[in-house]
Amino acid sequence: MKKLIFVALFSAVGLFAADGATLYKTCVVCHGANGDKVPPGSKATFTINTLDKAKIVEDLKGYKAGTLNQYGLGAQMKIYAGKLSDEDMGALADYIVTLNK
Ligand code: HEC
Repeated sequence: MKKLIFVALFSAVGLFAADGATLYKTCVVCHGANGDKVPPGSKATFTINTLDKAKIVEDLKGYKAGTLNQYGLGAQMKIYAGKLSDEDMGALADYIVTLNK
């Protein structure tokens, strides 16, 4: 019985960690609720809801590694991308691509 409860808890945590909509809440302040906002202070001409999944994951990995700096504010993204696992990035990308509707 104890083992069952542990398994149930563990899967709930697992689901939470990979929930793109929940993870995306930390991104809203700069990228907008629909991914349609250019981050404040950035020279970017993009909004992230126009990117495809592969590009979003690739970018997040680059920011996490500290090797990507497209518009002079890569260090700002490193703070956020640095906390994400590969699984989180995939879930976020899956969610972000649904925003451009
Ligand atoms: C403090 C503001 C801020 C927050 C919070 C933030 N970002 Fe960003 N994001 C930026 C800025 C600024 C850039 C442009 C960085 C550069 O100069 O390369 C950027 C760039 C990006 C890009 C690359 C876009 C492109 O054109 O290739 C992606 C993807 C992205 N952010 C996703 C996210 C996700 C997902 C989150 C939440 C986990 C997030 N961001 C949180 C400010 C933010």
